[in-house]
Amino acid sequence: MDRIFSGVQPTGNLHLGNYLGAIRNWVKLQEGHECLFCVVDLHAITVWQEPEDLRRATREVAAALIACGIDAERHVLFNQSRVRAHAQLAWIFNCVARIGWLNRMTQFKEKAGKDRENASVGLYAYPNLMAADILAYKANMVPVGEDQKQHLELARDIAQKFNHDYKVALFPDIRPLILGEATRVMSLRDGTKKMSKSDASDASRINMTDHADQIADKIKRAKTDPHPLPDDVTALEARPEARNLVGIYAALTDRAVADVLAEHAGTGFAAFKRALTDVTVSVLEPIAIRMRELLAHPERVDAVLKRGAERAGAIADPVLAEVEEVVGFLRP
Ligand code: TYM
Repeated sequence: MDRIFSGVQPTGNLHLGNYLGAIRNWVKLQEGHECLFCVVDLHAITVWQEPEDLRRATREVAAALIACGIDAERHVLFNQSRVRAHAQLAWIFNCVARIGWLNRMTQFKEKAGKDRENASVGLYAYPNLMAADILAYKANMVPVGEDQKQHLELARDIAQKFNHDYKVALFPDIRPLILGEATRVMSLRDGTKKMSKSDASDASRINMTDHADQIADKIKRAKTDPHPLPDDVTALEARPEARNLVGIYAALTDRAVADVLAEHAGTGFAAFKRALTDVTVSVLEPIAIRMRELLAHPERVDAVLKRGAERAGAIADPVLAEVEEVVGFLRP
């Protein structure tokens, strides 16, 4: 059977981009697949995190995933640092991946910015740890948003090089699953920039925990252009803000962009934004309520993660043992 792995960082608020690009697809993929979903705290510390904030965010992200519909009984939900195999396999992959490969990673360049000399080594080696996350479970399907595509190509290269160098067929091929009409949700303030947790402006994103009036306000203030909606998808190409809002609407209502345009062609943004607010609130509000209920009992969320890590470790440990044998480590 196909095995699915995906992860999300506990670095502040989850937003609509995380939900539409990733989490919503994870929920759907639970049917018919064996899934592991991971709150990647080891990745989070590649940039500075206050320890108390990290602990709280890890719990909150886990609660958000459960509130969105991740079934932690049937599937595995855990935090990364609890399963030692991730860091151990990542070290081996540090020795498989080439510096030239990492030098091409656009996300490192974006995150490190101009002060590259001062970025952590962990931020640079970040994609190797991602490869380890996936391959510690021999997972072959990875549902993510568009921004993770390059990292998954690198993970695939690592798996192939390992198999090739050691003359084994140990790791499977990795298939990125980039699904739906909102694989790259853009900032509400700038249709050419990705919606992101790290954007200084809170008005640029809709957080999963925003209240109805905050959602309404952010959508109302979202940047648009003065033209009504077109009837043809290609006419959106030169209108990034319009493209973004229509994409969000389509994804939230599980429809194709063309279908949404067929219904709303000729509508101005004032009316379309009201419709978009309604669907956004109707999807996010019940999730936020469930999340608050779950967080009223943080010890229960912690117990779910702990149990998830035990189950994850039971899958990853034998894979790591197999890798260590192949590499030539004396063991046990
Ligand atoms: P992270 O925490 O940045 O984001 C979690 C998921 O949300 C998607 N996403 C978006 N999708 C559409 N539009 C957006 N604006 C948007 N912003 C974020 C991301 O593509 C991602 O799927 N490195 C990963 C976490 C990770 C991982 C893994 C993923 C660690 N190990 C192994 C897959 C497999 C990250 O930082 O995601």
